[in-house]
Amino acid sequence: MKKEVKVWAPATVANLNVGFDSLGCALSNPGEEMILRRTSAKGVVRVKAVHGAELDLDPKRNIAAVAAQSLLTAMGNPCGIEMEIFKEIMPGSGIGSSAASAAAAAVAANELLGAGLRPNELLPFALDGEQLASGARHADNVAPALLGGLVFCPPIGAPISLPIPMDWHLLVMHPQIEVKTADSRSVLPRTVPFDAAVLQARWMGAFISACHRDDSEQAMLALEDLLVEPHRQDLIPHFKEVKQLALSSGALVGGISGSGPSTFWICKDRENSETVAKAFRSFIVGKDTPFHLHHSQISAQGAHVVA
Ligand code: HSE
Repeated sequence: MKKEVKVWAPATVANLNVGFDSLGCALSNPGEEMILRRTSAKGVVRVKAVHGAELDLDPKRNIAAVAAQSLLTAMGNPCGIEMEIFKEIMPGSGIGSSAASAAAAAVAANELLGAGLRPNELLPFALDGEQLASGARHADNVAPALLGGLVFCPPIGAPISLPIPMDWHLLVMHPQIEVKTADSRSVLPRTVPFDAAVLQARWMGAFISACHRDDSEQAMLALEDLLVEPHRQDLIPHFKEVKQLALSSGALVGGISGSGPSTFWICKDRENSETVAKAFRSFIVGKDTPFHLHHSQISAQGAHVVA
């Protein structure tokens, strides 16, 4: 039986414009680590420390602890768990901070307890944690954080891994403000126009079909957001200018990452992505909100044990 497990989990971009609550990908950067230790206090999960962010240490209000507790309970509480969390992905960033915590905790607890569950089977436990942050039970961040790659979550049944457009270089722009997922969901309308819903479904079909044909360019062209961006853009500092700048300086497509405030911009190579980053850096001089940039590709690997 292991006494200690260290895991890494990726950041994720959810929705990807066409698949609200149903599509997401794992990023190669950033990611974060978590250590779980076995204790003798059967059934008890304790958050020993969180480094890099101020998170609730109460295990009932900590996403990682809730996910670990869920698996521990399902396994019959053979021991206790102590957690140490190293946050690199800031909460409320729109790049799957809570999903990374939930996925890391589920993967680490699985290893520590010798549960032997596959990543897909860990999803319900990770979702127990993620639900705490979002107020809803959607897997578009958690599934890619667990499985890696590009993942589609159908209305019924297990998440489906899609072929990955290998040549995508994603530039993530993260304004340093926190947008809570629940708040970002509250600005969305309860109903949408029929013609927009139909068109959005067609773009989603076009995207998934292009992925299966390994047609990266068509996949990019299909990333049209008709339903969400119009309602969330005001939550993101300078969104319209950032979008215009990204597309005019070399990004091929992009939009709001998950529930924001991060945005993602897809470029055809690293050089292009550097050019867009340079334009962003010039733009932000003198603006009120600082931001971080992450250069990334889609990570084929999800949360996994590193030690
Ligand atoms: N699909 C979710 C949303 C992702 O956009 O609200 C954030 O968790």
